[in-house]
Amino acid sequence: MSAPQRPAAPRGTRDILGDEARLRAHVIATAAETFARYAYAPITTPTFEHTELFARGVGASTDIVRKEMYTFVDGGGRSLTLRPEGTAPVARAFVEHGMHKWQLPVKLWYAGSMFRYEAPQRGRYREHTQFGGEALGSPAPEVDVEVIALLADIYAQLGVPGVELRLGSMGDPESRAGHREALVSYLAGHLDDLPAESRERMELNPLRLFDAKDEPTRAAMAGAPRLLDALSAAAAEHHGAVEAGLARLGIPFTRDDTLVRGMDYYTHTVFEFTADNLGAQSAIGGGGRYDGLIAELGGPETPGIGFGCGVDRVVEALGDAGDAVGGVEVYVAIIGNELRAELGPLVRELRGAGVRCESDLRGRGMKAMLRHAAALGVGTTVIIGEREHERGVATLRDMDTGDQREVSLASLVEELA
Ligand code: HAM
Repeated sequence: MSAPQRPAAPRGTRDILGDEARLRAHVIATAAETFARYAYAPITTPTFEHTELFARGVGASTDIVRKEMYTFVDGGGRSLTLRPEGTAPVARAFVEHGMHKWQLPVKLWYAGSMFRYEAPQRGRYREHTQFGGEALGSPAPEVDVEVIALLADIYAQLGVPGVELRLGSMGDPESRAGHREALVSYLAGHLDDLPAESRERMELNPLRLFDAKDEPTRAAMAGAPRLLDALSAAAAEHHGAVEAGLARLGIPFTRDDTLVRGMDYYTHTVFEFTADNLGAQSAIGGGGRYDGLIAELGGPETPGIGFGCGVDRVVEALGDAGDAVGGVEVYVAIIGNELRAELGPLVRELRGAGVRCESDLRGRGMKAMLRHAAALGVGTTVIIGEREHERGVATLRDMDTGDQREVSLASLVEELA
């Protein structure tokens, strides 16, 4: 009889285990704390939405909508889509709940899975986790600065190495219309140099060619007119105010006149953070302003700005730096069943005092308990045998050095907490 075939996770998805899973939880907890300090409230939206929302919100000409959505028809014949990103759902919720009547800006944050049918590679998954923040209801450049500072603070708090910030502007519709004309007429002179795919993208949105990876398109785009040079007076003023605000906060950035983002909703400020140890998929977070999105979804004219951060990539960028986060700290090795029963409350007491601890649950002997403690990577093992118990003490073993010392049972919790 052949062995039954074992199930495996779908291509482009994965299980997150061990140190990586702990680090992931730590990253989201750190983000949650920082969001709270910036007066953001949490929001949870459904994992799937009407397909229409993304077609309208993200844009029908984007790769996300054209090629990457997990769309299905449910039992009631509705077309639904697993969310590929978090901004359109939050904007939908803003309109649906009449949040324009709340104190503005409304600041919301979320964390959860996003789904994109992309070619899987290092750092690029078909289900990935993002946390993101959205501030809706103020056009002021101070909001742009605050949003960027918030994400920079999260990276600093986590200790992500080699973080860099690139800043650009999509201008307002007026700037974009003028620039588009100039860009299309420039490209008309380079059509023969462009591969078919670039010509197709050009029809949909010529700006996307700044993001091309192939050499011929890159060469052609090197001399193309830049949107940053074509900003209207109002858009240039906004951009200047954001740059000045970041400089005042001492947040370093590079001005990037080719920064293209994957959604059509952006206006004015766009930005991306990268980490230098990730290879090709180095973007750990990005976002920008979307002053037309709420109106596009049927709400009142309301400006907005936000970002999404790729948790999988942040965890990878942290790498070994995060190994110790949230692991078990103390192992309680009690020898003998009777003593174990008698001292049972001790483990709970330690946990109540905030110590992350484990004890044996399988009737191991002393040696096996020490092996278990070592496998868990604890710093300290508490050993209590008959002899210790009679004298009212416990032996504390430092698992790195092997050094042992005694403490009184009465002061054990205080000692370890
Ligand atoms: P995004 O740049 O498409 O923006 O995604 C945000 C971040 O999610 C990226 O910087 C990256 O770290 C991570 N990410 C994206 N796709 C993948 C993937 N396939 N695998 C792993 N990580 C990935 C947005 O989604 C916008 N909603 C951000 C935003 C919020 N703009 C305004 N408000």
